[in-house]
Amino acid sequence: MSINVLNSNKNEVTDAESLKQLEFIEQAKEKVSALEKELGRKPTACVVTFGCQMNARDSEKLLATLKLAGYEEVETEDADFVIYNTCTVRDNADQRVFGRLGQCSNHKKNNPHMKIAICGCMMQEQGAVEKIQKSYRFVDLIFGTHNIYKFAELLNTCLDSDRMIIDIWKETDKIVEDLPVFRKYPFKSGVNIMFGCNNFCTYCIVPYVRGRERSRAPKDIIRECEKLAADGVKEVMLLGQNVNSYGLDFKDDDPNKISFAKLLEMVCEVEGIERVRFMTPHPKDFSDELLEVIGKNEKIARHIHLPLQSGNTEILRRMNRKYTKDDYLALVDKIRRDLPDVAITTDIIVGFPGETSEAVDDTIDVVKKAHFNNAFTFIYSKRTGTPAASFEDQVPEELVKENFDRLLKVVQDEAKEQTLKYAGQTQRALVESVNDHDESLLTGRLSNNTLVHFPGSKELIGDFVDVKLLECHGFYYVGELVK
Ligand code: 5AD
Ligand code: SF4
Repeated sequence: MSINVLNSNKNEVTDAESLKQLEFIEQAKEKVSALEKELGRKPTACVVTFGCQMNARDSEKLLATLKLAGYEEVETEDADFVIYNTCTVRDNADQRVFGRLGQCSNHKKNNPHMKIAICGCMMQEQGAVEKIQKSYRFVDLIFGTHNIYKFAELLNTCLDSDRMIIDIWKETDKIVEDLPVFRKYPFKSGVNIMFGCNNFCTYCIVPYVRGRERSRAPKDIIRECEKLAADGVKEVMLLGQNVNSYGLDFKDDDPNKISFAKLLEMVCEVEGIERVRFMTPHPKDFSDELLEVIGKNEKIARHIHLPLQSGNTEILRRMNRKYTKDDYLALVDKIRRDLPDVAITTDIIVGFPGETSEAVDDTIDVVKKAHFNNAFTFIYSKRTGTPAASFEDQVPEELVKENFDRLLKVVQDEAKEQTLKYAGQTQRALVESVNDHDESLLTGRLSNNTLVHFPGSKELIGDFVDVKLLECHGFYYVGELVK
């Protein structure tokens, strides 16, 4: 296994490195075109994404490289090139990948040209690569999160070789972002503003697989937003594991050192960008400045995703979250007071070591008091290498299940009640797609992140329209266009 550790300056070395990758795409083109002649048809590629928005953004880059190299995109995993972009936040994501990989080996038996690649967070985890080397020998290419920008180069190596190529870096402080991207939605895009996390919540594997916080320079972020706007993007989502630590890794005298709130303001000034979202802030450092900037700026979506994780102060302490139940509720009160039209959503973990039913009662109490518009509830998953994995008081499965169901009921009731409050209002929606189940309907997203389905023609996709919210169906609305 080759482990390369880079020690370059903290700089976006985009130009030189991305030019190099473009050359590799040219080289890959020749190989894919030779394959096309041999097969008598265009070779196909499939990108399978697990996990968060940052992975989704990375996958758009993987797909762009494959398409530019000459592959035709398909959704099925019997393609000539299949790549799994993995997540490892919870164990079930790992298991799903191994299940899918197993199935993929059957396709490879029927297609000797097939190449199988695997990348992303799971590959940074101890033991994962060894497991693939041992039990999934048919995999052709393995790489991690830090060198994903080198995909074009690795693709070339892989197309030239019959051996398993492995390239995992332990860490990097290099940022290469200016690469070709094939956006899933032409009108909206994620924009990475920082990578990694320094928080070390005791249950979480992210700091180990994504490394320490590295912020992109504001000018690079703004330049990307301007390019996106020129390319028809109207909505951006600023992405980072902990966006309100943005810039803290720059030295005090570095002119790049600006707050996340300031960065948000700058992004709002980009002409053509009409809506700005961000994901994810940490409650412990949610500043008054940020609240003020959201209040002043109509372009910033009326939605804050504010992970709670637990409503019990002792569990929060053991999770290393650095806030108490009362701190969290005070922050929610402040948001409600200053920004009454903002929808708040959250993440909650059930079954963290030592969590009693009384502790879950505290979480339920917060759900009721905070009036979340939605909450993603997760069963605690033990991640090897994290401090909580060695806590002794792991909670029995039955108790976790019982507490999870109890919490879910309250979450759903609260979400319904909050969403119902918009009934009869007319709000602006960005039209995202034709409805999955009914082709006569379009699906749009409101500023507060609620989905609305309404009759309309698909030419409206990518436009902002006014929609009257008629029928509330729990998390979403059915509505009608207001002309
Ligand atoms: N087990 C369960 N959920 C987890 N999350 C992070 N790590 C774990 C874990 N070990 C959840 C948190 C986080 C979301 C992205 O995933 O709620 O906010
Ligand atoms: Fe994980 Fe905590 Fe960092 Fe979020 S803030 S990525 S939960 S360590």
